Amino acid sequence: MKIKRFFLVAATALALPVAGMNVGAAEQPVKAAKSAKGKVSGANVFNRLLKKDKQRNAPPSEDGIHDAANDGTHVLQPPIIAYDGLPTTEFGNYVDWVKALDTGLLKPRYDRFDPAVEPLVMDLDIVREVKASMPDVVFPHKPHTQWLHCSNCHPKIFIPQKNANVITMSAILLGTKCGVCHGKVSFPITTKSCKVCHSKPKPANWKPPKSEASLKTPWR
Ligand code: HEC
Ligand code: HEC
Ligand code: HEC
Repeated sequence: MKIKRFFLVAATALALPVAGMNVGAAEQPVKAAKSAKGKVSGANVFNRLLKKDKQRNAPPSEDGIHDAANDGTHVLQPPIIAYDGLPTTEFGNYVDWVKALDTGLLKPRYDRFDPAVEPLVMDLDIVREVKASMPDVVFPHKPHTQWLHCSNCHPKIFIPQKNANVITMSAILLGTKCGVCHGKVSFPITTKSCKVCHSKPKPANWKPPKSEASLKTPWR
């Protein structure tokens, strides 16, 4: 014990005089942070699946998600081979999963144990009017319930009542609301995917709504 404490005191005494001149060493972590940022799309660095094109659909051992030290990872089929022949899109992992299911190319099991269980599909579109000039958002229950049970969304992510939830783009991009899945396990927000959600054109006579303040004291 006594010997250890002695070393500690000696080390501190040696380190103190050079601490003030140690500017060069402090620069290292800043450089490392800069190069890590370059690995994902600059548009939206917090979305780990928005990678630059050359890294897309990398083999499991190189995708940054699976553990490369695990032998099992190297047995997995690389996505580039697994996705061959499936209908394509221009974003995410470049597969149109909804179309792949509709055309019968994929027949995922709904229940892990019982192959006879059929999905509980509900065909109900929810239109969310967007106050900005973007086309309105249509949330289709059908493609979601073909993949997912109601309990994936209700009631934890969304109260099951039209317009009972406050949804915004910033919430989605920060990984809440639709962003719990979109950008992680389902197609991400990119400039090419806006129209998949914003799919209902505004009526021809649409005008941006006025705020309460501008209604009270109009300019003209
Ligand atoms: C992927 C997420 C998701 C799944 C899965 C899902 N829903 Fe919904 N549901 C929503 C969203 C989003 C809304 C709209 C909420 C809003 O407008 O604030 C909604 C709305 C509803 C509403 C309200 C409709 C209205 O007109 O007020 C009901 C009822 C509902 N869902 C039932 C279900 C049932 C039953 C299932 C399973 C068969 C299901 N949902 C699966 C996301 C989901
Ligand atoms: C629980 C996960 C989950 C949530 C939450 C979720 N989605 Fe999805 N969504 C999916 C999956 C899975 C698919 C199918 C795979 C794909 O297309 O990437 C999908 C597909 C879609 C599609 C494509 C339909 C087509 O015809 O190609 C639209 C549009 C969509 N979602 C909109 C929304 C909107 C809007 C919200 C929020 C109100 C939302 N989703 C919330 C999981 C989710
Ligand atoms: C996963 C589905 C989805 C995608 C993809 C998507 N949006 Fe949205 N967007 C929404 C939802 C849901 C809302 C909220 C609508 C409401 O007010 O109820 C919204 C709202 C908006 C609004 C209104 C302001 C706000 O934040 O609420 C703007 C502007 C907008 N989106 C632009 C875009 C643009 C630009 C893109 C493509 C880069 C895009 N959106 C892609 C689902 C989506």
